Amino acid sequence: MFRSLFIYLSKAAWARKLVTHWKFAWRAASRFVAGETLDDAIRVIQRLNQKGINATLDHLGEHTTDLESARRAAQEIIQILEAIMSSGVRANVSIKLTQIGLSLDEGVCRDNLQIILQKAVATNNFVRIDMEDSSCVDVTLRLFHQMRHEERFENVGIVIQSYLYRSEEDIHQLSQECSPVRLCKGAYKEPPQVAYPRKTDVDASYDRLAKILMDGALAAGCPAVSQDGRLPPIVALATHDERRINFARDYARRIGLSKGSLEFQMLYGIRRDLQENLAKDSVPVRVYVPYGSEWYPYYVRRLAERPANLWFFISNFFRK
Ligand code: FDA
Repeated sequence: MFRSLFIYLSKAAWARKLVTHWKFAWRAASRFVAGETLDDAIRVIQRLNQKGINATLDHLGEHTTDLESARRAAQEIIQILEAIMSSGVRANVSIKLTQIGLSLDEGVCRDNLQIILQKAVATNNFVRIDMEDSSCVDVTLRLFHQMRHEERFENVGIVIQSYLYRSEEDIHQLSQECSPVRLCKGAYKEPPQVAYPRKTDVDASYDRLAKILMDGALAAGCPAVSQDGRLPPIVALATHDERRINFARDYARRIGLSKGSLEFQMLYGIRRDLQENLAKDSVPVRVYVPYGSEWYPYYVRRLAERPANLWFFISNFFRK
């Protein structure tokens, strides 16, 4: 109920207009958002890198409503790749296809994606395509496959959500192709026709899919995270759930998958203790670092995940 309400609010234009006018709302959101500018985000990443943690940078924005904004969003991503190269930080990039025009025109989105991937090749970097709601999954996978197999870009990865029934089949295919996959639970409100409604089933699915990915990585003798921290291994497990993390680490040990071939990913501002402890244990950790002025839907999805975050939001209202 709480989750559904907040996921509805994350998409409601009236709520976005209201909340983004409140100064204290930005103060609360900045716990999860690195800042409004690319320079802010690079400074945050430098601090993470000092702790042995890699990053993936996301310029916030989704469901762009006109072609010019989609083109500008693609250019901003190109600037991120340049900034990573010039600053020398250990980071790659995450993008959303609806940010670069998916909901407007698939062809425009493909062209923008291709330009971004060419820049990633030129800067020796990697781009992860985030997964959005279930209506986007088919087209997102189609564009990913086109880029990876027809256009032969090796520096692109995808995200799979364990709450979707279809994901097991998708993971089998991606794993056979040795495609880099980030596995997450899924952050959107989905109907029971497409996604497990119960958290226990989502968690069980997560462990099952993680095993398939790890078996695939082992069979393919897949490489570890690159020396410069930019190219991830084939398996990236994105979760703050310690049970899932412990399960995966145990399974990797049992089958003999090396430490460097399994990366854990977490969101900026969530479970910093866990991020730092894993990094101290020489486990590859990557933090998802979002920045920009379009923070509203991202932030409200974080509220949806954890009711306790709402108290933090409210307490900011009372702070001077
Ligand atoms: P779960 O929700 O069970 O939480 C486990 C524990 O983590 C909680 O008990 C709490 O301690 C902590 N926690 C989790 N969320 C928190 C929050 N918001 N605030 C404070 N503590 C919190 N989704 C998607 O649909 N498409 C995508 O492309 C991505 N990409 C992505 C990248 C990365 C790096 C991460 C970590 C996550 C995503 N997600 C995502 C989001 C993902 O689907 C999911 O919604 C969140 O990670 C929360 O789920 P957990 O796996 O952490 O488990």
